[in-house]
Amino acid sequence: MSPPCHTSALLLFFMALAVAGAEQSEERSCDVIGDESSESQMERALLKKLEPLSPMRFNVTVEKGKTENYIYHFRVCREVNSTSHDFGGLVQIDRQNGKTTVIGRINETQVFNGSDWIMLIYKGGDSYGRHCSGEKRRAVIMISCKRGVTASSFSIISEEREKEQECFYLFEMDSSVACPAENSHLSVGSILLITFVSLIAVYITGGFLYQRLVVGAKGMEQIPHFAFWQDLGNLVADGCDFVCRSKPRNAPAAYRGVGDDQLGEESEERDDHLLPM
Ligand SMILES: *[C@@H]1O[C@H](CO)[C@@H](O)[C@H](O)[C@H]1NC(C)=O
Ligand SMILES: *[C@@H]1O[C@H](CO)[C@@H](O)[C@H](O)[C@H]1NC(C)=O
Ligand SMILES: *[C@@H]1O[C@H](CO)[C@@H](O)[C@H](O)[C@H]1NC(C)=O
Ligand SMILES: *[C@@H]1O[C@H](CO)[C@@H](O)[C@H](O)[C@H]1NC(C)=O
Repeated sequence: MSPPCHTSALLLFFMALAVAGAEQSEERSCDVIGDESSESQMERALLKKLEPLSPMRFNVTVEKGKTENYIYHFRVCREVNSTSHDFGGLVQIDRQNGKTTVIGRINETQVFNGSDWIMLIYKGGDSYGRHCSGEKRRAVIMISCKRGVTASSFSIISEEREKEQECFYLFEMDSSVACPAENSHLSVGSILLITFVSLIAVYITGGFLYQRLVVGAKGMEQIPHFAFWQDLGNLVADGCDFVCRSKPRNAPAAYRGVGDDQLGEESEERDDHLLPM
């Protein structure tokens, strides 16, 4: 390769890169009524919600006898054929003669939602001929909530064109993007309970570490505030004894207590006797 040839090859390469880049950034998206500043915030939020569906392509074929044989191509907020630059978001192709008709354009989008559905409307399609006073076609796509599927069951419901105005093509599909956010099932009670349990866990581990590492306790003494809990345990036991027993504390128990004490003293005394030996 001679140097000039080299240079022009490089130039061509960069031009191709630039064209590819421009093409990519030119992938146009849905445009709702109003300019940047006056667009509805709700519509913008919904378009953002629909974004995961934009790489997908949907098709549905309609065959009615010998007269009708159409295929509909649909994309969510993207042009079906980005090389034609016609903003067509829902396009009908007549399979008998290959004629392409834009049903709705993404530069005239309207979108709104309910609790578990999103309605996407593309207006500004190619004009009707004899029907509907020759107005522009319009595609209405109802997206229903279905958890666990990104998108499925794209189908055509009907084509309403036997009226004076406001005709439309109606489609439907399922998607999880139309689902309401799953609310957490945690009630106030369970949140309180979780907080309480966590606090206890922190208390026990923290106290344990403190007793062990700082105070240098061993065995049961490592339990934080061991004496207090022991006392509390005794108190509770006493309380339970008092409340739960059907009969009052009877004599043998008291007697045993005394007996034990005496036994203790006695054994000590005996030990004393033993010591000198
Ligand atoms: C729909 O048709 C287009 C073009 O013919 C094709 O690229 C795409 O994969 C099809 N989509 C589905 C879901 O069949
Ligand atoms: C896309 O549009 C261009 C220009 O109108 C056309 O030549 C091409 O055949 C179209 N592609 C498809 C898949 O329809
Ligand atoms: C949308 O695009 C079509 C085709 O380019 C054009 O005729 C129409 O005026 C555009 N609509 C708006 C609202 O810009
Ligand atoms: C519509 O979608 C928005 C944004 O995702 C949501 O906050 C709102 O609750 C939805 N509307 C209804 C009626 O559910």
